[in-house]
Amino acid sequence: MKKNIIIKNAAQVVTCSGFAAKHGKEMSKLHVIENGTVIIEDGIIKAVGKSDDVLKNIDESKYNVIDATEKAVLPGFVDSHTHFVFGGYRAEEFGWRLRGDSYMDIMKRGGGIINSVEGTRNASKEELIKLGKKRLDSMLSFGVTTVEGKSGYGLDLDTEIKQLEVMEELDKMHPLDIVKTYLGAHAVPKEYKGREDEFIDEIIEKHLPEIVERNLAEFCDIFCEQNVFSIQQSRRLLSKAKEMGMKLKIHADEIVQLGGAELAAEVGCVSADHLLQASDKGIEDMAEKGVVSTILPCTAFSLKEEFARARYMIDKNCAVALATDLNPGSCFTESIPLVFALATLYMNMTIEEAITALTINGAAAVGRADQIGSIDVGKKGDIVILEFPSYHFIPYHIGVSTVEKVVKDGILVFD
Ligand code: NIG
Ligand code: FE
Repeated sequence: MKKNIIIKNAAQVVTCSGFAAKHGKEMSKLHVIENGTVIIEDGIIKAVGKSDDVLKNIDESKYNVIDATEKAVLPGFVDSHTHFVFGGYRAEEFGWRLRGDSYMDIMKRGGGIINSVEGTRNASKEELIKLGKKRLDSMLSFGVTTVEGKSGYGLDLDTEIKQLEVMEELDKMHPLDIVKTYLGAHAVPKEYKGREDEFIDEIIEKHLPEIVERNLAEFCDIFCEQNVFSIQQSRRLLSKAKEMGMKLKIHADEIVQLGGAELAAEVGCVSADHLLQASDKGIEDMAEKGVVSTILPCTAFSLKEEFARARYMIDKNCAVALATDLNPGSCFTESIPLVFALATLYMNMTIEEAITALTINGAAAVGRADQIGSIDVGKKGDIVILEFPSYHFIPYHIGVSTVEKVVKDGILVFD
């Protein structure tokens, strides 16, 4: 298929231009070109600018041409935190939480993540691929062109590898790009209850070397939380993973303020995620060290927790990213429109900041701000075309997708 495409005469091309995370006030600058055109050749952006300038001397017959008159054009969204490969569901937990149980109560009595571990251990690779593909199709319909996916529903090495291999297969067969994260320390497996340090040893000695050797994941992540893994255990695992060449993420300060944000800055995580309870100092440390603050409003909403302090983070010069956290427990949604609604209406983020958080800052959260996340020459031709003429419609059309078409690597993949 031709990977050469022209998207022309757009009412707005919202470029989100940049090759690194945007901090604080920078997040408000979207760089909008009115009556703009984008040219993609061999899957890579070759030109972007005012239609008259860009189309001069171009033989349009050599391209697939999309007329984007009266439409806004944006970079593909980057969903930088998901757990989209899992077997089985936990619909009953949603009902229990509505009756007053907390996420941690359910986890303490042996439910929660451990339930999905059962379901995922029992699922075949083929089943997980089929389920994963459906979820990726749904994400694509919301304009997502790159997604981060975590293991962590195996805990034993074989199932963790199975999850990562499923993502590898899906990456090859589906238009979306998948960034793989190893999250073996997502919960304490039944076999290791009360022996958390030994489980961390096992990960360091047996799991990490194999994951690294076989290049199965780019990132290493851990659920640093009271009654899950401590700051000391998280520091030990993340430092080792870094020594072995992995990039780092951390589930930090979600339920209890443990100091995960400070640890993320100390060990050099690319992102720290959740951060509902992050301290002032943790937030300042992250801003200073350039750790992306990935906030997951749908999870706070679904757990009926207070939202992370996005406004404070941006005012303190953090680079904030937004993501769905799609998973079978705390947050079963891949809805980008819901993320936009919560970020703008409940977290006091401006529309511009929310768009930056889902594009260039999402790209930075997966270590790919040099390749995706903006409409800049040299980047991948990953483009979203809205059915409306301005980016303001994204949150204004509350909870409904405004995405009409998606181009991935220069190919129209959703229409
Ligand atoms: O990011 N908080 C920890 N991990 C996931 C939830 C996983 C689950 O409940 O299955 C999260 O919210
Ligand atoms: Fe998560």
